[in-house]
Amino acid sequence: MEVYQAIRSRRTVRDYKPDPIPQELIKKILQCARWSPSSSNTQKWSFIAIQNLDTLSELGNICKQGPFVGQAPFAVAVVMDDAPRPQLDAGRAIQSMELMAWSEGVGMCFVGVREQDQIVAVKALLNIPEKMDLITVLAFGYRADIPKPPGTPRVPFNEIVHWDRFGEMTQP
Ligand SMILES: Cc1cc2nc3c(=O)[nH]c(=O)nc-3n(C[C@H](O)[C@H](O)[C@H](O)COP(=O)(O)O)c2cc1C
Repeated sequence: MEVYQAIRSRRTVRDYKPDPIPQELIKKILQCARWSPSSSNTQKWSFIAIQNLDTLSELGNICKQGPFVGQAPFAVAVVMDDAPRPQLDAGRAIQSMELMAWSEGVGMCFVGVREQDQIVAVKALLNIPEKMDLITVLAFGYRADIPKPPGTPRVPFNEIVHWDRFGEMTQP
C-alpha cells in the first residue's frame, strides 16, 4: 500500500477476528518498531510481543481503557527505560508498527494504561521491571466490525496549517 493511502485510510480498530496474524507479519511489525528513529538514536525501548491467549485475556481484564485487547490475537507492550524523550520515541515506533500492520490489513488500537493500579498489574503480568516506563499496550488484529466511512472527523486543514508565519492561513 502506498504511504499516503495507508495514512489516509487508517482507522483505529477495536473489534478483532480471532484469526491469528502470520508470524512473518508479526516479525515485520516488530522490525518496523526497531527501525524507527529515536532521540539521539538512544533506542531505550523494549517491545513485548504477546500472543499467549491467557495473557491477552488477563490484559483485557486489567486495561479498563481497552478491554478489547482480551479479544485480540496479538498485542505489543511498549516499554521505555530511562529514555531522554520516551513519549516521542515510543510514538514514532507505535506509528511505524500501526502503518505496517494496516498496510497488510491488520488493525490496531492504542490502549492507554494510566491508572497506577493498572500499571502495576500489567507490569507484574508481563514481568516488566518496576523502574521502567510502560507507555501503552497495542492491540492488533484483523477487523471484525462493520467498516465505517473512511476517516474520523478531523479539524479542517485551513485551521491547523499556517504558512510561513503563525496566523497566516492562506497558502501563498
Ligand atoms: C495517545 C493515544 C492514546 C489513545 N488511547 C486510547 C485508549 O486508551 N482506548 C481507545 O479505545 N483508544 C485510544 N486511542 C485511539 C484514539 O481514540 C483514536 O486514535 C482517535 O479517536 C482517532 O480515531 P482514528 O484513529 O480512527 O483516526 C488513543 C490514541 C492515541 C494517539
